[in-house]
Amino acid sequence: MQSLRQFLRNLYPRKALAIDFVGYEVLLDFIEARSLHRLEGDLVEIGSFVGGGTAKLARYARKHDKRIFAIDIFNPDVDDTATPDGIRMSDIYLAFLQGRSQLDVYEEAVRGLDNIVTIRQDSKAVSFPPEQKFIFGFIDGNHHPDYVRNDFHIIWQNLVEGGVLGFHDYNTELPEVTLTIDKIMTEHTGEIAETQEIVPQHIMLIVKGHKANSA
Ligand SMILES: C[S@@+](CC[C@H](N)C(=O)[O-])C[C@H]1O[C@@H](n2cnc3c(N)ncnc32)[C@H](O)[C@@H]1O
Repeated sequence: MQSLRQFLRNLYPRKALAIDFVGYEVLLDFIEARSLHRLEGDLVEIGSFVGGGTAKLARYARKHDKRIFAIDIFNPDVDDTATPDGIRMSDIYLAFLQGRSQLDVYEEAVRGLDNIVTIRQDSKAVSFPPEQKFIFGFIDGNHHPDYVRNDFHIIWQNLVEGGVLGFHDYNTELPEVTLTIDKIMTEHTGEIAETQEIVPQHIMLIVKGHKANSA
């Protein structure tokens, strides 16, 4: 996994647009290792960008007759969270897209994957009914702390016992994100069975424990 700076340096030589920033293979490895497909529920991702990761999750989900809900505002301009040296998230997205429509590139990447439910909304406007269960959720949307919290709650309340929630940007160049994730984990410590940090990819995974659903 590369840092934001490395990502910007490598931006222009890239040809394929339908990439993912995170390296979703590590998520899929964890999902497979834990046999999450045995649990009842779907997958959800907040922050799909150009859909490269969404497509990877969808192919896994399809093998197990599951869906993936992909939530994104599809407006590369809105996230003005900045690294300490002033690089805004929106700068990164716009530089990557080079004038292309984010939604067009996304639609191309996910074409033919009919188990994807795309929700084109601000994540603060999204909620799921209690009967919509999730086995896995990944948060990589807006990087403002209040969005990190919002996005956590959208998924956590519908995550099944033994299900996994992942945060991106843990311990990277967005200190407020890390701080917020740490606070969330402390606040929900009694509901968490296990945590696992994937350092190279800046991912924090939390496994939902038994107490959470009976609380
Ligand atoms: C870092 S990108 C996601 C990258 C993707 N996970 C990957 O690895 O390729 C963050 C995404 O969050 C989306 N986003 C920003 N603010 C949002 C909001 N308020 N609601 C929903 N999505 C938002 C952006 O449009 C962008 O696509």
